[in-house]
Amino acid sequence: MRYAAPPYMNDLLPVSPSGEGWRHTARWRAVESIFRRVCLQYGYREIRTPVMESTELFQRAVGEGTDIVSKEMFTFTDRGGRSMTLRPEGTAPVIRAYLENKLYADSPLQKLYYITHVYRYERGQKGRYREHQQTGVEAIGSQDPAIDAEVITLAMEFYRRLGITQTELLLNSVGCPVCRPRYRDALREYARPLLHSMSRDNQRRFEVNPLRMLDSKEEADRAAMKGAPKLTEYLCEECHTHFARLQEYLCALEVRFTLNSHLVRGFDYYTKTAFEIICPALGAQNAIGGGGRYDGLVEECGGEPTPGIGFGIGTERCLIALEQLGIALPLEDESPIAFIAALGEEAKLHAIKLLHALRRAEIPSEFGYDNRSLKAQMRLANRLNARFVIMLGEDEVRQGSAQIKDFHNGGAQESVRLSEVTDWIFRKAEPHAKA
Ligand code: HAM
Repeated sequence: MRYAAPPYMNDLLPVSPSGEGWRHTARWRAVESIFRRVCLQYGYREIRTPVMESTELFQRAVGEGTDIVSKEMFTFTDRGGRSMTLRPEGTAPVIRAYLENKLYADSPLQKLYYITHVYRYERGQKGRYREHQQTGVEAIGSQDPAIDAEVITLAMEFYRRLGITQTELLLNSVGCPVCRPRYRDALREYARPLLHSMSRDNQRRFEVNPLRMLDSKEEADRAAMKGAPKLTEYLCEECHTHFARLQEYLCALEVRFTLNSHLVRGFDYYTKTAFEIICPALGAQNAIGGGGRYDGLVEECGGEPTPGIGFGIGTERCLIALEQLGIALPLEDESPIAFIAALGEEAKLHAIKLLHALRRAEIPSEFGYDNRSLKAQMRLANRLNARFVIMLGEDEVRQGSAQIKDFHNGGAQESVRLSEVTDWIFRKAEPHAKA
């Protein structure tokens, strides 16, 4: 019996599997650490929530009529008979935690970030997985369009630091409960005579969630919806002003965007600002991030009316984009500084004590296990890209010293007293000592 990872879920590995550098864990850490730095610099602090929540939270927050809730959730009954769901997105859990832990009492504006796995039972393909990771932020407690501009700028700055500059920022306003019903009616009126030419999905959306008809990927639906009325022409005064200000701020910050009246996104909680960042190089799954404002969500989840805005960025898609664009990330060096090759049982005893001392001195060190020949151990040290190879045989032990080869110095060999090896390596490795 051979086991495989669950469908469309990925193993991330310490080595780069051939042709799939995006699954290399060092690259993931690089992306995550760039994200953490940007967030810190913009004043966002980390939040972590459980991998699952009560199913009802997502039904209420994301919306029963959405594809995510109606078709894509990993839902199960726990042993206590509760319906639980693996998080299909990052926002609702953050709002639940914000309310449960009364974060609003700490400060009226909470700026939070997360790096989290998300689960959706989707039809898998390259760039679309059933488990994926999102780096995201949520700014809860402000209506100010300047915070919308901050959130969007943060996302764009993150891409810039990753090296993904070939992006397009799509922007729309999806209005609010005051102006949306009027638009919904106008949209239905427009779509009704065209329904026969549209997909079954869009016919269903016509009933439950007409705005979603706008961003169907089906060719027939796109053709039918092409001439649909624009939501931005139906915005109430408040939404209109908010959207105008946001555009003004983005222009002032020199953030380029494209207005797209068909951008509605797949969540019921959005109000006003909706945005998506696409990377055209990616092909079909080209959305590398998306977000928007959700001024009714906190109330929907049982809190006081509180505005909010955030985004989620797909880590896999960013890494695949980097790979496709041929952009290298600064990777942490995972090779050991020192490798100890021992020959004979007595030398091995000294060697593992020395290994222990080197590691205590925080010098990344490795050892040639399994009593292999010196040649085999040297091959391994070379494969691991160790800078120093410390050789210990019976003669060396008798003399109380070790032979050390420095591969940054053409493999030059020196004899160093055993008691001094740690200090010697430490001195030589500086200033390149690894943390
Ligand atoms: P979303 O657009 O569904 O938004 O997901 C955000 C990003 O996650 C997408 O742009 C994409 O890069 C990535 N992504 C989504 N689904 C998959 C998948 N199946 N495989 C790989 N990557 C994927 C949200 O989830 C909202 N919670 C974002 C948000 C935060 N809005 C406000 N605050």
